[in-house]
Amino acid sequence: SGIVGFLGKRDALPILLDCLDRLEYRGYDSAGVAVSNRRQIQIKKTPGRVRDLRFFLEHEPILQGILGIGHTRWATHGVPSVVNSHPLSGCDGRFIVVHNGIIENYPQLRKSLIQKGHSFITDTDTEVIPHLLEEYDTGNFENTVQTILPMLKGSFALAILCRAEPDKIIAISQDNPLVLGVGKEEAFLASDIPALLPYTREIHPIKNGEMAILSPERVMVKHIDGTILEPKRTFVEWNVQDVLLQDYKHYMLKEIFEQPKAIEETLLGRLSPNEVNLPELEPVLNELPVKRLRKIDIVASGTSYHAGIIGKKVIEQLLGIPVEVAFSSEFIYNHPPLDEHNLVIVLSQSGETADTLSALREAKQCGCPVIAITNTVGSTISRKADSTIYTKAGPELAVASTKAYTSQIVAMILLSIRLARLVPDSPGTDHIPSLLEALERLPEDVESTLIMTQDAIDQFAQVTYDQDHLFLIGRGLDYVLALEGALKLQEVAYIHADAYAAGEMKHGTMALITPGIPVIALATQQQVLNKVISNIKEIKARGAFVVGVTTIGDELVGEVVDEVLYVPETHPLLMPVLAAIPLQLLAYYSGTVRGHDVDRPRNLAKSLTVE
Ligand code: G6P
Ligand code: GLU
Repeated sequence: SGIVGFLGKRDALPILLDCLDRLEYRGYDSAGVAVSNRRQIQIKKTPGRVRDLRFFLEHEPILQGILGIGHTRWATHGVPSVVNSHPLSGCDGRFIVVHNGIIENYPQLRKSLIQKGHSFITDTDTEVIPHLLEEYDTGNFENTVQTILPMLKGSFALAILCRAEPDKIIAISQDNPLVLGVGKEEAFLASDIPALLPYTREIHPIKNGEMAILSPERVMVKHIDGTILEPKRTFVEWNVQDVLLQDYKHYMLKEIFEQPKAIEETLLGRLSPNEVNLPELEPVLNELPVKRLRKIDIVASGTSYHAGIIGKKVIEQLLGIPVEVAFSSEFIYNHPPLDEHNLVIVLSQSGETADTLSALREAKQCGCPVIAITNTVGSTISRKADSTIYTKAGPELAVASTKAYTSQIVAMILLSIRLARLVPDSPGTDHIPSLLEALERLPEDVESTLIMTQDAIDQFAQVTYDQDHLFLIGRGLDYVLALEGALKLQEVAYIHADAYAAGEMKHGTMALITPGIPVIALATQQQVLNKVISNIKEIKARGAFVVGVTTIGDELVGEVVDEVLYVPETHPLLMPVLAAIPLQLLAYYSGTVRGHDVDRPRNLAKSLTVE
């Protein structure tokens, strides 16, 4: 979910709403704002989207003010409703709070506050915060916030207003992202950087143990104990064009088409004829006990997890070291034995996913070196890892990940090559020259794949209009790709899509094949092609409607399927990048033909900062 804040000389409301629009991909159950004219503060909120809030504000205008806070919610406690929407206040409205994350000890706090006479009106965990502020009000806004902070457990970002000091915003970030943006005579708060790009590129991520205090006289970052900090001025490279839709109908389509550039940027400066340059890894590589490296663990969630499984296959081929991949949410409480002889790699587009952040902490506690692959400079995960490889995909705003995914695969491959060069006797070093050559050509190949598949996929997607089920099958890397293809279709087309290892269908799932059921058969891996063709025949014999995805020049797959799609051929380890594209396009066109909001799928959020 998203938090915004603004303080300046201009009218705050349009800026708050504009930033909320750009943060909406983080959660869109309800939206609200509180605006202050330095004397009075007014709140408006509603279940639904930011556009619903706008509509509401047109009919019931709020006072004009030069500072304010706003929220777009991804409900964790309590249904989306007017009362549960943020901003929230306590008994007498003295403090006004917007909150991202979860206050884990809220049941205890709520109980003790009720005993002290407070009455609660919402089902949220958040409501304890304004009540605590009232209960422990010292008469000084800043001190009161300092007093209650140690009482809150969990991960949270907060922006708070106080009626007694109506020209101030106090912001806190505790394991939950919040950035301070500094402009000319104005300051901003936002849950992530893209929301602020039209206004400023000078960004300070608020860290644990810090609070930002925005007032017309001064914008300050203080340590919780009150000492003033002088944050380093950081400027982000992303620019405002990156966050505009331009001529595209949806961010998802724009981002699918940005993949040649995203990959090119991710490769830029990192390829040399026989080697990969990743100087940012030196701190970890210098310390890495390469000769005694026992195992590598890759940890991630969602789409990043799928990029992780591809990483596993690549590392195992190139390095011959066993790799285990785990969902972050599982790894935290149930991981294999770990020590300094394990390398842990975490993947996260946003760099803020709470599950992945906890997994990273767990790995560090076990003494493992940690490398992060993320798309977001300055994100919490990049700050906590020992070294970070940045994917350079630019901001990704559609909830379903596309360009960040293919860039993650590229980064995983670069990392694998670098490690293979380091680990003595790596079995796959023979692959490296051809892999490097293929990487050079990859942006062009991605471009051709987009051109070759777009129309055919658009047509096929029409067939999925009334389908509830769809299967994707493949072997080896094609199976991993099938997992990601299925996730995309679930996320944006709400189709019950499932991926199966092609050879496993006959051991159970074949019972679900009925005449006409759509199956996408991925057949891009030459070494298992004949086996996949047999599997396709088995399901064709049971009446499925099969669309094959294979490489240009292949004549076998076309013979056995109902429809065939060709993608250019590249190194087998890079095929998942090219073959991902028709699957992303399929999810996009199926989602649109079925009438869904593809950029904002129901119940989901782009960046989940709760466990
Ligand atoms: C959310 C998003 C997914 C994403 C996952 C992991 O669930 O909806 O699209 O893959 O988080 O996000 P990350 O930023 O850690 O890659
Ligand atoms: N836990 C709070 C709620 O459910 C905040 C959720 C959010 O991050 O939007 O209201």
